Amino acid sequence: MSSLADQAIVWQDNHLVLLDQRELPSDVCFIDCHEVADVIHAIRDMVVRGAPAIGVTAAFGVVLAARVRYQQSPGSWRQDIEQDLQDMLLARPTAVNLRWAIEKMRNEISNLPDGDPEPSLLSKAQTIHQEDILANKTLGDFGATLLTNESTVLTHCNAGALATGGYGTALGVIRSAYAQEKITAIYADETRPWFQGTRLTAWELLQDNIPVTLICDSAAASLMRQKKLAWVIVGADRVASNGDVANKIGTYSLAVMARQHNVKFMVAAPTSTIDMQIKSGDDIEIEERADYEITSLRDQPIGPDDAGVWNPVFDITPAEFVTALVTEKGVIKAPNSSKIEAIMKY
Ligand code: MRU
Repeated sequence: MSSLADQAIVWQDNHLVLLDQRELPSDVCFIDCHEVADVIHAIRDMVVRGAPAIGVTAAFGVVLAARVRYQQSPGSWRQDIEQDLQDMLLARPTAVNLRWAIEKMRNEISNLPDGDPEPSLLSKAQTIHQEDILANKTLGDFGATLLTNESTVLTHCNAGALATGGYGTALGVIRSAYAQEKITAIYADETRPWFQGTRLTAWELLQDNIPVTLICDSAAASLMRQKKLAWVIVGADRVASNGDVANKIGTYSLAVMARQHNVKFMVAAPTSTIDMQIKSGDDIEIEERADYEITSLRDQPIGPDDAGVWNPVFDITPAEFVTALVTEKGVIKAPNSSKIEAIMKY
């Protein structure tokens, strides 16, 4: 394994081991998941986060669930496990990779012969994991072709190895372009309220000796105005069939600012993040999380208890703001329904 970020999701000694992303970068510690309930908590509590990483984790969660259900009742485990799949689906609502991975595993379950399901399901989960890494490397290289030499880029949230099976989507493009010496500066914004940019993206890039400059979220417009930014590069939690993008709160603001400053806006996501079942971003459920994520920092209150709080953790960027949607199947410039339909058939 090349870096600690590549150990975010590991199947080891018959169980799932997750890097606890809540504690990074000050502590590098791991959480053991032996049961599906452990996996659900880990997803809900952000031990593991990022759309593809949530999907991969859920696939391993199905393996743990099947082990218990089969031991309890070899005759009815296929019916019994449905409750676990439903519970996992509810852990976080916006990232479609969760549903995507559970559907893949459900399909595998329905095609299994009688007998212990664990070896086959484990093999399927491992394939989902490896294919995600491969997809990220492929889309990373595709995305890098869009950058010209001496590009400066800004990324939001963490769409890196930590947020995926490995390598990353937005950070996959940045890794590939940096390796090709096309990038002169990488900016990461802090990404309030959870600080995925400060805590995770900066840590992950520096682990691989890739220099990064942190900015406050509120510095983005000034950065675009003063530093000749070439691209904003982000990941996605769900892309609707018309190209609207759900991603970390603040993505939409960046897209609007980018348009104003003639900065190009790239969304890097595997096709497992594209939801062909919905027409537009209006159909995407936006997760709202607890007030304390805004009113406190590391358990220390920073705002009055009585303040009202609105904490949506994702937003929708309309497709018209997206210069390019980069997937492992290719690049879609100015994405729309027909272009997305074509690439999904490919
Ligand atoms: O709340 P999070 O940290 O799970 O949100 C993550 C993001 O918004 C990422 O940008 C997205 O999942 C893409 S990860 C490759």
